[in-house]
Formats: sequence, structure tokens, C-alpha cells
Amino acid sequence: MRGKMRTRIIGTGSCLPETVVTNDDLSKMMDTSDEWISSRTGIRERRLVKEETTAGMSVTAARRAMENAGVSAQEIDLIIVGTITGDYVTPSVACEVQAAIGADRATAFDINAACSGFMFALFIADAYLKTGIYKTALILGAETLSKIMDWNDRSTCVLFGDGAGAAVVRSDETGILAYDQGSDGTKGMVLTCRNRKNNNPFVSNSTEPSYTHMDGQEVYKFAVTTVPDSIKEVVEEAGLSIGDIDYFALHQANIRIIRSVAKRLNVSEDKFPTSLEHCGNISAASVPILLDEMNGKGLLKPGMKIVLSGFGGGLTWGSAVVEW
Ligand code: ACO
Repeated sequence: MRGKMRTRIIGTGSCLPETVVTNDDLSKMMDTSDEWISSRTGIRERRLVKEETTAGMSVTAARRAMENAGVSAQEIDLIIVGTITGDYVTPSVACEVQAAIGADRATAFDINAACSGFMFALFIADAYLKTGIYKTALILGAETLSKIMDWNDRSTCVLFGDGAGAAVVRSDETGILAYDQGSDGTKGMVLTCRNRKNNNPFVSNSTEPSYTHMDGQEVYKFAVTTVPDSIKEVVEEAGLSIGDIDYFALHQANIRIIRSVAKRLNVSEDKFPTSLEHCGNISAASVPILLDEMNGKGLLKPGMKIVLSGFGGGLTWGSAVVEW
């Protein structure tokens, strides 16, 4: 008889576009400064696509994660991509990844949970794996946010970047020890990007694309209250205390949010690794890119307890305690 099976992250990968755009580069294009951006957000530069696509970056991140995990395309049962910026409405990014890597046994689909997209995809995979329907899954967060920014709106466009992160997960004896997720649709309008408007022979609307709008202070208030509560809840559910956690890998929205969460949990900021200095906020891709950077630096050792936490548009949030 097998013991309790869990969903374990066995490999990570990521891909950033080539073009580096610094705060100084932006200050030549608009009325902003390195001082304003870095003091309020911690962001110093971000990568933006030129020829790269959401699917193309996802494929590279996926291949790196599979290589890191030692898993072949034939072993993958499920591919889920958290994204709000797929290249096509259909096919999904996940189906494009499936075709490119040749994972022809896999079921593939995207989900929209904005900045919580990777966490929600992980929890969906966990549910499939726990039922025994599937054994091995490829989970991604991937975004080309630069295409949904209004580059005349300095209050939003300086915050975001492009990129993709991936993880291979498999049923194992350890892995996700506990998770918490939630949504509050009543606050959804504090962070929006409208889809196409109704347009048919009976109604006429502009087909101009819409861009991202944000009430930054409302998002800040939401994040600094919901995230610490969610983390406390998962840590307790895992039968651990905050002091047992080796690292907290949070969505990389803003250094001030991360510092505030650290303070509210009474944990040293050293336990909160960051990538936002060189990536900006990449929505669903933030958590898996950060995790891959931690993995690449050799920070993650078997048996360590790591908290992952995503939060953002919807509004949505999701946290997990994983044993590495
Ligand atoms: N450069 C220079 N000045 C700017 C810029 C800029 N890039 N952007 C805005 N300003 C100006 C504004 O015009 C305003 O000027 P005014 O006082 O003359 O009107 C002033 O700076 C203050 O603007 P606020 O929007 O009030 O700035 P705030 O201090 O709230 O900082 C920020 C904005 C950093 C976004 C903050 O609200 C925040 O930390 N929010 C957290 C949410 C977040 O980071 N969201 C990211 C995406 S959501 C997510 O991933 C969960």
C-alpha cells in the first residue's frame, strides 16, 4: 500500500526576452525617473519582448524545466499555463507548448487567475494528481504584459515586464504540504484590462484594444492584508510555524508589499528572495521565474520548507507550503 501521495516540484525553468529596458531608458521616453520607480517599487529594469511571444518563451521555459527534472515529453500527462496574455484567444498557450515539445499524451489548457495564475495552475494539477488521474504535469506562468500596457500611462507601464516560468510536478511522498486559495470578485475593478467589446451587425462598438488600469493603493491594501493571512493559514495547516519556513517566494509586484508582508509575519527580509529588480512584475510568471532563479543559485535543498504566494487581478490569491 502506498502512503499519502503529494505533488512535488521536481524541476524548474524560465525564459526572459533579450531586450533589457532600464528605468533610465524609460525616463528618456516619459516623465519619470529611476529615483521614482526604484524607491516606490524596487524595480530597476525589466525585459520586454521584440520578436518573442508568450508561447515561444513558454516553450523555452518548459524545455528547461523538463531537462532540470529529467522528464521526457512522453511522460507529461497535463500542461496548464496561467496567463492573461496568450498570443491567440485560441489555441491556448498550453496547446502551443504541447505541440512544440511533442507531449502528445498530454491534456493542455490555459487558466486566467492573473498574478495568481501559476499558483492556481499548481493547485489544479495537485487535484488531478491526488485523484490518480494523472501522474506528471507541466505548470507554467507566462506573460507578455508589455502589449496590454498603455505606454502613455507612466503610473502602470513602468511596473511590468515580460517572461515565462515553468515547473514539472509529479506525485511523490513529499511536496505540497498545504495550500490556501481564494477570490474576491467584488474588488475586481481595482485592476482591469477590458477584452473586446460587443461588436456584431446589431451593435456597433469600437474594436480598439483596451489597456491595463490599476488603483495601485487599493491593490497595495489588499496585498498587505490578504497575503500575510493566507501565509499564516497555510503554515498552520501544514503543522508548522512561521519560523520553520526557509524561504518565502512571493509574487514580485513591489518591494514595499514584500517588506510589509515580512514585517507583518515578523520574519527577516533575507528570507524573501526577489527578482523584481531585474524583471519587474510579470504577473503569473513571477513566482515560477523566482523559483527557478532560487533553484539555479542552489538555494533550494531537499527537506527545506518553502512558502509560495501569488496575488493579484480578480482579485485572487493563492499560497502553498512545499517541502523541496
Ligand atoms: N514616475 C513619476 N511619477 C509618477 C509615476 C512615474 N512612473 N507614476 C505616477 N507618478 C506620480 C503620479 O502622477 C502622482 O503625481 P501627483 O501627486 O502629482 O498626482 C504621484 O506620482 C503619486 O501617484 P500614486 O499613484 O499615488 O503613487 P503611489 O505612491 O501610490 O505609488 C504604486 C504607486 C507604486 C503603484 C503604489 O500604489 C503601489 O505600490 N501599489 C501596489 C500595487 C502594485 O504594485 N501593483 C502592481 C500590479 S498588481 C499586482 O501584481 C498584484
